[in-house]
Amino acid sequence: MKIIMLGAPGAGKGTQAEMISEKYNLPHISTGDIFRANIKNGTELGKEAKGYMDKGLLVPDELTVRILLDRVAKEDCKNGYILDGFPRNIPQAEVLDAELNKLGDKIDAAIDIEVPDESIIKRMIGRRACVSCGATYHLENVPPKKEGICDKCGDKLILRDDDREETVKNRLNVYHEQTQPLIDFYQRKGVLKSLDGTKDMMDVFQEITEILA
Ligand code: AP5
Ligand code: MG
Ligand code: ZN
Repeated sequence: MKIIMLGAPGAGKGTQAEMISEKYNLPHISTGDIFRANIKNGTELGKEAKGYMDKGLLVPDELTVRILLDRVAKEDCKNGYILDGFPRNIPQAEVLDAELNKLGDKIDAAIDIEVPDESIIKRMIGRRACVSCGATYHLENVPPKKEGICDKCGDKLILRDDDREETVKNRLNVYHEQTQPLIDFYQRKGVLKSLDGTKDMMDVFQEITEILA
């Protein structure tokens, strides 16, 4: 099963992708997490990506596409995967489509988590993310067991650099201009499933499992 998570920054793509990954035993592939891991490790890729991410802009397609295609070619992806944060514009979606076509394959579901912009800002300010594994928490909604420490891997939790209010606003603009057109793109392919992301996260997850059943 090959699944794409669509939705604005902070809509809950990562939160839901993590739960889907556990239940269906599929790798959760987040391009944002890959970039953040590279920034943390001080790689060339990380240095290049950081300049764009801190402004709330997309990292150039040539970099992003190469990383994504390398990742999905790995052994653990042979039964499928969940893409979180990719594709993020029409050209990326077209490249993915063409690659899948070559393999006689396709996307099974594009899950669009809908959350209005007003709710997004509140969520982002309370979010804390693990520097190592990318697990996501929220100070009020999903607190970690031990303050500042990741439940899953024990590394430290941070406020992401791009979660400052101004940057979140830029990310929302980029989302509306470049990413939202993917909703039509996957609708035309007949795989779009939209759901209300303002509900409790377990209710959202319940709906996703019904979609994937
Ligand atoms: P990326 O890391 O993908 O960030 P994003 O799309 O902006 O999305 P977020 O990770 O911020 O939000 P999310 O939807 O995963 O929400 P979460 O589950 O954490 O990308 C970052 C940057 O990398 C981009 O700006 C770009 O520069 C670059 N990049 C990445 N991919 C790229 C690509 N393909 N091309 C080019 N550039 C790329 O939830 C948010 C918060 O809400 C959490 O605190 C969570 O606990 C809480 N929450 C979740 N669900 C609920 C709920 N139902 N109710 C209440 N609270 C909830
Ligand atoms: Mg995320
Ligand atoms: Zn962790």
